[in-house]
Amino acid sequence: MPLLWWTCAAFGLFGLSLGADPVKKLEHACGKTALNLLMITLSVTPVRSLTGLPQLLRLRRMLGLFAFFYAVVHFTIYLVLDLELNFRLLGADIAKRPYITIGFTALVLLVPLALTSTNGMMRRLGARWQRLHRLIYPIAALAVWHFYWQVKRDVREPLLYLGILALLLGYRLLRWQRLPADAHPRAAAPGALTSRSGSATAPGRT
Ligand code: HEM
Repeated sequence: MPLLWWTCAAFGLFGLSLGADPVKKLEHACGKTALNLLMITLSVTPVRSLTGLPQLLRLRRMLGLFAFFYAVVHFTIYLVLDLELNFRLLGADIAKRPYITIGFTALVLLVPLALTSTNGMMRRLGARWQRLHRLIYPIAALAVWHFYWQVKRDVREPLLYLGILALLLGYRLLRWQRLPADAHPRAAAPGALTSRSGSATAPGRT
């Protein structure tokens, strides 16, 4: 829906407009949508246990994949419209501009998560799937850091995201500390994911 909205705005349909700097507007909107979706994906587990609605888990994969999709669109806009496909400039930016280095790292780390999000890959990887998908925590931290570093003056908004992320990760830390030793994620034996849940399509807490 956001992409459809911005496409209409880009073509001036329904009285919508992207303003004076459409490339920046699109780049920022996609980056923000990717970050919002990452945060929403991370809130599924706490909201599910607070509300007792297990069906929320079904949304998690879709939300995560949409976060990846908007991160890819955000990067593509930067590469195609900002850098005009100049890969030398891209390399220089990644090497020299720390916020780009961090954003790029987050995007690269999202790739294996997106590629292994199918039911088949969940079954094949077993407990390793869960370990791999814990990458979402450093990825979310990198994404907030990337946002923080590209803001010039007013850092209130990135700090708000940092606060939300601290809550979401703090919740998990508390839950892990309360788990009995044999149920601790680090103690999970290969195959534990599928045997405990009885279904390869119901991954553990992410
Ligand atoms: C998980 C991946 C990523 C996320 C979640 C993300 C998120 C964001 C966010 C939230 C913003 C600020 C938007 C605003 O101010 O409203 C932003 C800006 C930006 N990001 Fe990313 N980003 C990611 C990856 C990347 C990558 C891979 C690149 C390029 C290699 C990149 C380049 C930029 C640029 C150029 C800006 C605008 C900076 C400016 O206007 O000065 N981002 N990003």
